[in-house]
Amino acid sequence: MIRPVIAGNWKMNKTVAEAVDFAVRLRTAYSTPPDREVIIAPPFTALQAVADTIRGSFILLAAQNLHEEEKGAYTGEISGKMLREAGCNCVIIGHSERRTLFTESDDRINRKLRAALTAGLRPIFCIGESLRQREEGETEAVIEHQLKEGLNNLTANDIESCVVAYEPVWAIGTGKTASPEQAEKVHRFIREWIVRRYGPKNGAELAILYGGSVTPKNIAELMAQPDINGALVGGASLDVDSFIQLVGC
Ligand code: PGA
Repeated sequence: MIRPVIAGNWKMNKTVAEAVDFAVRLRTAYSTPPDREVIIAPPFTALQAVADTIRGSFILLAAQNLHEEEKGAYTGEISGKMLREAGCNCVIIGHSERRTLFTESDDRINRKLRAALTAGLRPIFCIGESLRQREEGETEAVIEHQLKEGLNNLTANDIESCVVAYEPVWAIGTGKTASPEQAEKVHRFIREWIVRRYGPKNGAELAILYGGSVTPKNIAELMAQPDINGALVGGASLDVDSFIQLVGC
């Protein structure tokens, strides 16, 4: 049985004070931990302060990106080792905004996945097709390509530490969610691909999250699908009351 995962990707939002206030409110909203994994991904500047606020609680901390090298002359970049030291458990890799706005290739994403695993971080590996690709019937080919290239050289052991997030690009921040059936079809495709590549155990245990305009209103029907094990939420994760509703779905 896969433990559901609710992850909030804050993107470039919240000051340190706002992030800590959110974390305090989230932590104190529960007298017993929720029956799911709860992950928040603040911007880099707030990671350490949020880590201090959630220490010893059920809340897990994710970064939104990392650099593939451990250290060196990479102005403006942050390594997996630094993220671990700041208290991160997880890291989002391959988000479509990184792929399109920051031209991250599948090969780069693969190196980032390996760097995260080496640093002891759990990667949340994002994949998804654009609207044009969907309209041209290329969804499965695109997903397969992203899986194949992104997971290149990763072992079954590595996959055990990964979470995959299916985020159709046309659904991110647009208010257009994939229907539960549309999302389930791709999630099933992803799981079957993992089974073929890594075996039934890895396939059965992989948490596959859906992302793209998830809200407290539509999360339950998405999560009711057999291969949807959680959500990666952007906009609706920024308000703590909305996020608590998502966690409680
Ligand atoms: P959204 O973002 O929920 O605002 O659509 C999701 C994401 O980018 O992870």
